[in-house]
Amino acid sequence: MKILVTGGAGFIGSNFIHYMLNTYPDYEIINFDKLTYAGNLNNLKDIEDNPRYTFIKGDICDPIAVSEAVKGVDVVINFAAESHVDRSITSAKEFITTNIMGTEVLLEAVRDFSTPKYIQVSTDEVYGSTEIGSFKETGLLTPSSPYSASKASADLLCQAHYTTFGTPIIITRSSNNFGPYQYPEKLIPLFVTNLLEDIPIPVYGDGMNIRDWCFVEDNCRGIDAVLHQGQVGEVYNIGAGNEKTNLTITETILSRLNKPKSLIQFVEDRLGHDRRYSIETSKVAALGWKPRYDFDTAIAITIDWYKNNEWWWRPLKQPSKIEATSK
Ligand SMILES: NC(=O)c1ccc[n+]([C@@H]2O[C@H](COP(=O)([O-])OP(=O)(O)OC[C@H]3O[C@@H](n4cnc5c(N)ncnc54)[C@H](O)[C@@H]3O)[C@@H](O)[C@H]2O)c1
Repeated sequence: MKILVTGGAGFIGSNFIHYMLNTYPDYEIINFDKLTYAGNLNNLKDIEDNPRYTFIKGDICDPIAVSEAVKGVDVVINFAAESHVDRSITSAKEFITTNIMGTEVLLEAVRDFSTPKYIQVSTDEVYGSTEIGSFKETGLLTPSSPYSASKASADLLCQAHYTTFGTPIIITRSSNNFGPYQYPEKLIPLFVTNLLEDIPIPVYGDGMNIRDWCFVEDNCRGIDAVLHQGQVGEVYNIGAGNEKTNLTITETILSRLNKPKSLIQFVEDRLGHDRRYSIETSKVAALGWKPRYDFDTAIAITIDWYKNNEWWWRPLKQPSKIEATSK
């Protein structure tokens, strides 16, 4: 199988490429990535010479470059996005351009070349916040931030292409991911790398916002299950059932790194900050998927990875900048 991964130099995309090359000895992967601040070829350093892996620097908003990349592949998996909620609150333009218009460019290329499958990697944030219960795939989309609104728009475009043109799309909506190679502006790598330097960690509001934390490798295995067994036109939630407050995550990291609680700095809450995300995952479970890692094991692996890979995160840190984050 020849797979075009867009945004493969980012956090989840690079983990997915590693996972797929290791899992399927005959699959070929083309990684098409613009290399924004979040794209990092160091994430793929160990496989850059693998004959089954090719990198193309390109923008998913560029129809000519996209057409060349899509031609002849068996599946397109779109990870490319602006992904940081706080940045979307400061300025939404890039989010609208890449996340919505870029998705449309990809969908048009997939239609033009009759690509057998297109997978849109989306997020549980499209459902918005809920104090009780969990969203099914049929839940209303009520996104709160410009980021989640742009992702919801992209999901709707995918569904419109399926209905109108019969484009073979599938959407995955995963919860908060964590693991190796996550840009250190997101909560877990920001806090771990700050604490490794004894820098305070900024917690938004009262720290009681709840997210369902999924180890990135489990999400990659979920996307793999959807790719091979998912039904075209469908949406699949992927979450590990690890609902935890930001404060619990913070205390877990502090305790594992043996650092004092005095390093917690409560800061003004994020605008429009969703209180709780929660998704129902029986549909992906019916494909035979379940998370392989329990939370305690996965967070330990993750913290140890950042401890042991300072070469990776050090160049990405801006020491003077302390920003709060939920994702
Ligand atoms: N990180 C999470 O917790 C999470 C959870 C659910 C869903 N998602 C979704 O998964 C996908 C990947 O997330 P991530 O955390 O790996 O993001 P990331 O920010 O780490 O990586 C995004 C990648 O996309 C590339 N990119 C950005 N704009 C591009 C463009 N115009 N053309 C080509 N490449 C471009 C970047 O260079 C980068 O390599 C996103 O679509 C995101 O919405 C993420």
